[in-house]
Amino acid sequence: MQDPATRPIRFIHRGAIVEVTGAPTTRSVLYWLREDAHCVGTKEGCNEGDCGACMVMVGTRDDASPGGLALRPVNSCLQFLSALDGKALFTVEDLGRTTARAGDGETLHPAQRAMVACHGSQCGFCTPGFTMSLAACYENRVASGTRPTRQAIADSLSGNLCRCTGYRPILDAGEAMFEASTTGRSMPRIDRAAVVRLLHNLEENPPLHYRAPDRAVAAIGAIGANDRDGWVAAPRTIEALASLYQAHPDAQLVAGATDVGLWVTKQFRAMPR
Ligand code: FES
Ligand code: FES
Repeated sequence: MQDPATRPIRFIHRGAIVEVTGAPTTRSVLYWLREDAHCVGTKEGCNEGDCGACMVMVGTRDDASPGGLALRPVNSCLQFLSALDGKALFTVEDLGRTTARAGDGETLHPAQRAMVACHGSQCGFCTPGFTMSLAACYENRVASGTRPTRQAIADSLSGNLCRCTGYRPILDAGEAMFEASTTGRSMPRIDRAAVVRLLHNLEENPPLHYRAPDRAVAAIGAIGANDRDGWVAAPRTIEALASLYQAHPDAQLVAGATDVGLWVTKQFRAMPR
């Protein structure tokens, strides 16, 4: 029988709640996308957080962000799937889908359209990652009513490498996508209110077999094959973290996974509990 304090990893993707059970502890978001969800627009380059080919956008409820939604570009090769719990995932394939609300038939996101118009792609391998970084920059700037300098656009692309196009046309695209937003033409954008509603729904409607053990802890469940494996929990307060660590002193702490992720992708280490 399933432990009532465990539940699937749950997140929003393409307007629906995705539930993942039984995923290996070290399953990355990138491999889940490419091998399980068959969303192969997100590319694997270095698999170590250096090239940005695997960039996705992750949305989190955040009252301090415009519309109550923080949108962050994230290297999916270093994110473990459990880190998506309670969040919204966007890939390069989703930009056209989630933004097809413009009334004039435009279906490309401004970042996509600008990359095309400014010849920001040659072989194309880096292009999904650049497009996601640009899209995150665009979404956050337009939502906050600010416009970045060329240097700020370059900074937002500092996690992306391109081997063949060169950076000038890509930076041109970064500027051009904001030009489009000032023409008065309806430009497709991520619907922040809809995403926040979905995230709220995700929080309010846990699966039937789940009973939250403690509001300070978002249990993600023991999803490994034996007692040593698996995610114990995602503590939401310092106090919850301290008591969990006291109970499980052998546990490996994982936050952004920029180091722990490399132990997995480069050193093929098994993850302890
Ligand atoms: Fe290079 Fe993820 S594949 S940063
Ligand atoms: Fe080829 Fe960027 S277009 S690596």
